[in-house]
Amino acid sequence: MIWWKRLKGKVKVREPLYKHTTFKIGGPASLFIEPRDIADLKVLIKEAKRDRIPLRVIGAGSNILAADDGIKAAAVHLKSPYFSGCSSENGILEAGAGCVLSRVIAESQSKGFSGLEFLAGIPGTIGGAVAMNAGAWGSNIGKKLRDVTVMDYHGTVNTLKRSEIKFHYRSCSLENSIILSVRFSLRKDNPSAIARRIAGYRKARKASQDLSAPSAGCVFKNPDGESAGRLIDLCGLKGKKIGGALVSSKHANFIINKKNASAGDVISLMGLLKESVQDKFKINLEPEIKIWK
Ligand code: EPU
Repeated sequence: MIWWKRLKGKVKVREPLYKHTTFKIGGPASLFIEPRDIADLKVLIKEAKRDRIPLRVIGAGSNILAADDGIKAAAVHLKSPYFSGCSSENGILEAGAGCVLSRVIAESQSKGFSGLEFLAGIPGTIGGAVAMNAGAWGSNIGKKLRDVTVMDYHGTVNTLKRSEIKFHYRSCSLENSIILSVRFSLRKDNPSAIARRIAGYRKARKASQDLSAPSAGCVFKNPDGESAGRLIDLCGLKGKKIGGALVSSKHANFIINKKNASAGDVISLMGLLKESVQDKFKINLEPEIKIWK
């Protein structure tokens, strides 16, 4: 029997990644697996290793550009109820890795816990947000969490306190682990004051970012003390198009999938932006999005 048929969760063979990325781009993953629970995930890790098939964890697919011819790997999607719950008690909010940020924010708001409002409007899961140390408006998720429970690629589960994890700009030291769940210590506040702040962040995001078409948010990291969007803008590249990929005329660090863009179109356009900024400002732009190939 093929090993993945022994798993209790959902398994799809040659599942197109365009269905699972906010860019709406990407060929098939050899396998696309939603393990049911911890025991299932352990079996998956063990059997995939035996079969020499690499694993790649996918959250909401909001920071991924997947290759047109797909990936020879098993995409692991922690979307089952076991991995995507969210609850809070006594100022501690716990969310499964697969829980979307909008649900976490709604939970904290309704219970009157403050601290996560700045995440409003970021499309993603808690697991993805921690792995990438998602940030906005001068804050980042690494500053806010209490501890993270992870599984390593031998199947061992461990809970790490915030002080045991290193957080950097858009990355953290958990890249060799699978994030299972996250806990936050939040402070009590008035639910309507929290709701007002959430609405403010949503509005600011809508005003400055292009949400009109599929994208993966900012494609490049900001260089030290600079904004990649501002630099690309100063190169006069807003509206530049390659194939179906377009540099947003609202925010130059957004590439949008205007019309059936391929990963190749986006990569060519990123190359052009990088080269232009290098020529004009002698600054090297590094991708923020993860390119899966
Ligand atoms: N700007 C331009 N032209 C543009 C875009 C921006 O002149 O086309 C200027 C803005 O006017 C502003 C400055 O550049 O003076 C910074 O722009 P913005 O406030 O939009 O922030 P950003 O640096 O481009 C960062 C994060 C965003 C995050 C926002 C809000 C990165 C790469 N980007 O954007 O994160 O939402 O701050 O805090 O760190 C993401 O990670 O995908 C992302 C979108």
